[in-house]
Amino acid sequence: PQSPTNQLIKLHQDATKLYTHILMNTEMGQPALDYLHKRGLTDQTISDYGLGFAPSKQLLKPFFETRKIDYQTLRHSGLFIENSDGELRDRFVDRIMYPIRNQSGQEIAFSGRMLNQTPDQPKYLNSPETELFNKRKVLFNFDLARGAVRKQGDLILFEGFMDVMSAHQSGVDNGVASMGTSLTEEQIYAIQRITKRIYVCYDGDTPGQKATQRALSILRDNSSLTLGVIQMPEGMDPDEYRQKYGEAKLANALESARETPVAFEMRYLKTQYDVDTDTGRLQYLNDILAILATVKSPVEQDVYLTQLADSFQLEKASLRQQLAMVKPVRQ
Ligand code: GTP
Ligand code: MN
Ligand code: MN
Ligand code: MN
Ligand code: MN
Repeated sequence: PQSPTNQLIKLHQDATKLYTHILMNTEMGQPALDYLHKRGLTDQTISDYGLGFAPSKQLLKPFFETRKIDYQTLRHSGLFIENSDGELRDRFVDRIMYPIRNQSGQEIAFSGRMLNQTPDQPKYLNSPETELFNKRKVLFNFDLARGAVRKQGDLILFEGFMDVMSAHQSGVDNGVASMGTSLTEEQIYAIQRITKRIYVCYDGDTPGQKATQRALSILRDNSSLTLGVIQMPEGMDPDEYRQKYGEAKLANALESARETPVAFEMRYLKTQYDVDTDTGRLQYLNDILAILATVKSPVEQDVYLTQLADSFQLEKASLRQQLAMVKPVRQ
């Protein structure tokens, strides 16, 4: 007999296959497949990530019940919603299904993306926390990215599923997603076991940029890491960039649009303060110097001190003096 854990994994594997079948081979799945094609995903990518579709009618419930899967296993799987009478129905309805895998490549949860815009529904619906799925620990695509990360030496951290898949379709396989903008300590722990070089490539919009700053500040606490930022232009996310400019351009941007955390902060903080006023300028310089104080390389520090001195018409010596007095942020 199977252990309860293996039973739950088997349930997720079967559900993945079923959702994929609906997406690829049925009338019900056609609008979802058309949608994915319209976004420029190839059948190869769709298959590499095991995407599927949960139709609007009950699918998993009748399927598993005819296979005599016991009620408690179904209840604990997270794949169902239970009403007050203890009756189960499919949690995922009318959604494009993205299987979420653990570090060994086993399906342990799902995220479902709404196909039709419905205002009272979240864009993405995730499995709840279960015995298999601890959301804080999981990074989307960690299992597949691992090999590429080992080979290349660095890892790219994206926000979303589509960004990871867009990178993959562009030949860039060292990407994982934090599945949103709130990177956790547990996710960082998993990453730093396979590489010390991390590039944050969050969306180019305001929440993405704000989240980049937050991610850098928690990543900096782990002083063994080398960090960088990949800047997406014009407020786009990597998937939108691929849709607009194509795979080759995305691959190129992921290589060439890299900047240091200090360069990112210098650019980002300029949008946060009014540097045309004395107060704003001083706050800006304070923040930048606090970040510069965490930089270990004197040469790197010098490069940015020169830039600051030039752009604000200040003496480099006074900036250096001030730098010597600030406490590094978050260390
Ligand atoms: P697409 O519209 O499919 O391209 O999604 P996106 O990845 O661009 O979405 P967005 O940038 O808004 O969010 C980034 C990631 O955060 C998503 O890929 C999801 O993992 C997660 N996310 C976004 N919206 C929700 C939500 O409503 N609920 C949950 N649980 N997660 C979300
Ligand atoms: Mn099509
Ligand atoms: Mn976003
Ligand atoms: Mn996005
Ligand atoms: Mn997107």
